[in-house]
Amino acid sequence: MATAQKEAWGTRVGLILAMAGNAVGLGNFLRFPVQAVNNGGGAFIIPYLVCFLLMGIPLLWIEWSSGRFGGRFGNHSTPFILDNMTKRAFWKYFGVFGIFTNIAVAGYYCYIESWTMSYVWHSLRGTFDGLSQTQVAQFFADYVDIGKSHTGIPYEAVVFYVLCLGLNTFILSRGLRGVERAAQIGMPLLILFGVFLALRGITLGTSGASAEVPDANAWDGINFLWTPQFDSLSNPKVWLAAAGQIFFTLSVGMGSIHCYAAYVRSKDDIALNAVTSGFTNEFVEVVLGSLIVIPIAAGYLGLDWVKENAGFGMAFQTMPFLFEKWGPLLSAVAGVMWFGLLFFAGITSSLAMGTPWMGFMRDEFGWGRVKGAVSFGLIVLMLGLPTVLFFEHGVFDEYDYWAGTVGLVVFALAETILFAWIWGIDKGWKELNSGADMKVPEVYRFIIKYVTPVLLLFVFIGSLVTPEGNDWQGALASLFSGGGWPLDDSSIVMTIGNSGINKQIAAATEPAQLEALTDRKFFVNMARILLTITFMSLAVLVYIAGQRRARQQKAHT
Ligand code: PHE
Repeated sequence: MATAQKEAWGTRVGLILAMAGNAVGLGNFLRFPVQAVNNGGGAFIIPYLVCFLLMGIPLLWIEWSSGRFGGRFGNHSTPFILDNMTKRAFWKYFGVFGIFTNIAVAGYYCYIESWTMSYVWHSLRGTFDGLSQTQVAQFFADYVDIGKSHTGIPYEAVVFYVLCLGLNTFILSRGLRGVERAAQIGMPLLILFGVFLALRGITLGTSGASAEVPDANAWDGINFLWTPQFDSLSNPKVWLAAAGQIFFTLSVGMGSIHCYAAYVRSKDDIALNAVTSGFTNEFVEVVLGSLIVIPIAAGYLGLDWVKENAGFGMAFQTMPFLFEKWGPLLSAVAGVMWFGLLFFAGITSSLAMGTPWMGFMRDEFGWGRVKGAVSFGLIVLMLGLPTVLFFEHGVFDEYDYWAGTVGLVVFALAETILFAWIWGIDKGWKELNSGADMKVPEVYRFIIKYVTPVLLLFVFIGSLVTPEGNDWQGALASLFSGGGWPLDDSSIVMTIGNSGINKQIAAATEPAQLEALTDRKFFVNMARILLTITFMSLAVLVYIAGQRRARQQKAHT
């Protein structure tokens, strides 16, 4: 039931800010530093940059091109954006990923976003004043332990989660204008706050050293991230982590870029816009993202502490305590800036997650903005509430794994093959270059056709059948000597069978431990059932939409 597109972005700056806001998210400030630290700091950076150039940029161009092309025919979500590029009906079911991933990621992403809201409030109230490091960490532990909240608000985590979804729903109900407005306000403030905190990270030096940590030095953190090490280049684990980070941070392989690009007028540039928003994201990630948490934490607690404790909880469990060292006023300001920055990063991304669903329901079933936004809010609430209520039972991680990691790779691989091989690189290249305000380097034609799909295939296979201990040489040797392919518990294949947790259950000796593990397994399976139901329901909607389109077409001829 595609109608000619009318809604479009207001201005070019608005579009770029919205796209940059889509990409710049919690991934830049919470996920990137942790991935970098856990994968050897400087050892992570080279694979990361290579993945940006060989997969990130090509995928951005593919998605912007497919999206604008789809928008020209009134399609604003991936099922029919893809369908439009091929004659085969099954491609639209790959497009289901482009709605599903957004909804599922929104479920847990908005939960973290709601923490940032609550932490802004607590920073203003001075909740953390005078608390010890353990107490600040305990505050967080209690916060996510739903029933326990110490702040007087019963079920505080749920309250803020619902507030956060409500705010997202409200802005989304304003349509594209609302999204654009949010980016116009949020992005400049985010950069401002980020620069302020990064300056602190750079200037802290050894001034944070104390009797307990005499050799603490903020520069250790910066140097650790920024001294390239070449030995990791042969380590597939680092490459997989780097690729995963690139997908997540650029929001590629998700369907939200297609949707935003579908609202670009068909004569407007996409080539330069895509690069601009992509590089903005990289600036925020590798410059601001690496100059805040890691150096500040290393400056007070030492680099060894950072390496041992890297995890995204650090931002909530440790930062408020470190800010206290700056005196009551500055610590409140820093808290508001840090959590405010995270909040703006988060909301301009979670808004992007709502638009594919809204675009789809509008294109196919004529739903208005308010209906689209409210239904999105409710679906995310239903799917996301288990991550809030059963956070400690692994529901959150399960969503992040299937939707936020595996889903992206599958969809990115599928859309690249479709774009470069089925629709064809000739058409794709022409679409990318039409209206372009830059000369797209000719090598990218080759890269998009051969290099990107092959690399994506490697990433996909590498995750599907990761060998034990990530030892590829050993696994190949074993395969050729008839010993079979030893799979690692982290591989997709083994994860499906719950292999890791089953082993833990088998090895459990204490009854309490056994109970906790069986509990976890139950919640993990429940999370999978919920995700599967969501995916299947969306596929049914796509099927119905396809039938409606076919009927309409018949009526016309
Ligand atoms: N790119 C965002 C981040 O870095 C995440 C995101 C996922 C945004 C899906 C939009 C859609 O946090």
